[in-house]
Amino acid sequence: MGRLDGKIAIVTGGAGSGIGHGISRVLAREGAFVAILEVDLQAAEIVRSHIEKAGGRASVLPCDVSKGAEVRSAIAKVVEAHGRLDVLVNSAGVGLLRPVAEASEEEFDRLAAIDLRGMWLCCKYAIPHMQNQKSGAIVNIASVHSRGTMPRFGLYAAMKAGAVGLTRGIAVQYGPDNIRANAICPGTVDGIQTREIIAKLSSDVDGWLDDHVRRHQAIPQLIQPEDVGHLVAFLSSDEARLLTGAEIPIDAGTWAQLISRD
Ligand SMILES: NC(=O)c1ccc[n+]([C@@H]2O[C@H](COP(=O)([O-])OP(=O)(O)OC[C@H]3O[C@@H](n4cnc5c(N)ncnc54)[C@H](O)[C@@H]3O)[C@@H](O)[C@H]2O)c1
Repeated sequence: MGRLDGKIAIVTGGAGSGIGHGISRVLAREGAFVAILEVDLQAAEIVRSHIEKAGGRASVLPCDVSKGAEVRSAIAKVVEAHGRLDVLVNSAGVGLLRPVAEASEEEFDRLAAIDLRGMWLCCKYAIPHMQNQKSGAIVNIASVHSRGTMPRFGLYAAMKAGAVGLTRGIAVQYGPDNIRANAICPGTVDGIQTREIIAKLSSDVDGWLDDHVRRHQAIPQLIQPEDVGHLVAFLSSDEARLLTGAEIPIDAGTWAQLISRD
């Protein structure tokens, strides 16, 4: 018995080399049917095949989350195929490393379109289905950057703080419909996207990661995508039935630590 047996879940960005893949795999292992909404269909098919080989169930739907018509249609297809939608996980996202005054308007617009507008669009088109069935769980992947940040991450931090505000707004508005919404704030999670970003900060990616976990985390171990997946699975499950509007870190203690260790 998995804690999500019989549940129908959508994971946007569910083929993500880091967190997305980890979430999709754990939800499927816990018994959910996982519909992956993605722009990278090749990567999504690989995730689907991993899930099916492990005995789980999944599908892939092409969807650019920044485009309302695509989001509405992909969510409607999932509901049409399965009769319901129990869980929406918004993990699709892109990063941007640019000082606030140096970012271009185009860079801001692309970041906002995917990280914030895309999250809102998926919620907007999922919520009416959840209202009809009088239940639903939304999990939005924000970041530790929602509260504290670093040079060059200012606009990314703005999107992630916005994601947390959006999550609270949904929790408050739709709680009476038995719809829950929670935000997860991961620290540095192992994955290709993470390593590409670190490569822009340092020529020694492994050294940077070793130093980061040792100095900026209470527990000096690199966070793995499945660590995030386990938290998503709990928040999506009926065990979390009264947990809503929360902003939960999975950061090995980064937020708790006032100063870095030597
Ligand atoms: N990796 C980290 O350390 C970390 C930490 C905190 C928060 N996050 C957040 O977690 C989420 C997932 O990160 P990840 O590590 O899996 O990154 P990733 O780049 O590996 O995955 C992101 C996925 O989103 C998909 N995507 C991009 N634009 C899309 C669009 N317009 N429509 C649909 N899908 C789209 C990509 O194809 C990709 O598969 C992101 O929101 C990121 O900001 C990541």
